[in-house]
Amino acid sequence: MDSNSLESRAIFLRSLIRAAGEIVMQGFGASRQIEIKGPQDYLTETDALCETFIRQQLAAEYPEDAFFGEETGGQSGDNIWVVDPIDGTANFARNIPHFCVSIAFVSQGRTEIGAIYNPALNEMYFARRGSGATLNDRPIQTAQTPAPQVASIEFGWSARVPNASYMTILDALLYTGFNARRAGSGALGLAYVADGRSDGYAEIHMNSWDCLAGLLLVEEAGGRVCPFLDLGTLEAGGPVLASAPRISAVLSNVTGIVLAEREDVIQGEGRIEMGQAI
Ligand code: IPD
Ligand code: CA
Repeated sequence: MDSNSLESRAIFLRSLIRAAGEIVMQGFGASRQIEIKGPQDYLTETDALCETFIRQQLAAEYPEDAFFGEETGGQSGDNIWVVDPIDGTANFARNIPHFCVSIAFVSQGRTEIGAIYNPALNEMYFARRGSGATLNDRPIQTAQTPAPQVASIEFGWSARVPNASYMTILDALLYTGFNARRAGSGALGLAYVADGRSDGYAEIHMNSWDCLAGLLLVEEAGGRVCPFLDLGTLEAGGPVLASAPRISAVLSNVTGIVLAEREDVIQGEGRIEMGQAI
């Protein structure tokens, strides 16, 4: 196998993200030093340890590839690894097992490989463009939920966005009939759309390290996603929407976040009657 191929990177990524997960679990539940990067924005020593480990491993194996990580930044390049060493750090810091390592490989401006690993539950999500998405090696698909009244979505929040903008959209989501939750890990929130545990994920601003792997998972699992990288958002971040197909048009209308075209998608009925089977 060509050691510089996508296939070799995919194989390497599977073992790398498991090893990174072990580092994260060594810090989970331990007494630890927590710093505050900004309002409601946490950093533990494990975030830094894990990112340094991933960065060193990638530099040794693929010295030509660029690296961009949440904690140490990086530089752009045609082939670039985009890394969140712990997504859901606030959960991690409070001993809540809802966090993950998220790694995407982007080539020529397109995400080609994405992996999200929750080491506390031993759940590994993996996708390669054109090859489908898996959870612990089993193929996954988005839900076929037909209408907002039976849809449960996650609407992510951060202090990077004015509260008024968040509240306006939250109000519209609830008014339309969606159940909107926030669980504190955007990457896992997207992975849960891919495997049908959730019907959608929206956030007004997300960074690329939080969302690229998850967006590829949803796309490969049959869902609809926003054209994140087309908007030049790798460094600065941007709005994120990912959705089960049948409620995607209404979710896009309510949040005002556009979706990339996808021809094989059929919308749901929009409304369902109470007592109707779903
Ligand atoms: C945050 C989480 C959160 C999302 C934020 C992210 P962190 O990342 O993913 O769910 O809403 O946009 O910044 O701080 O846990 O790595
Ligand atoms: Ca994150």
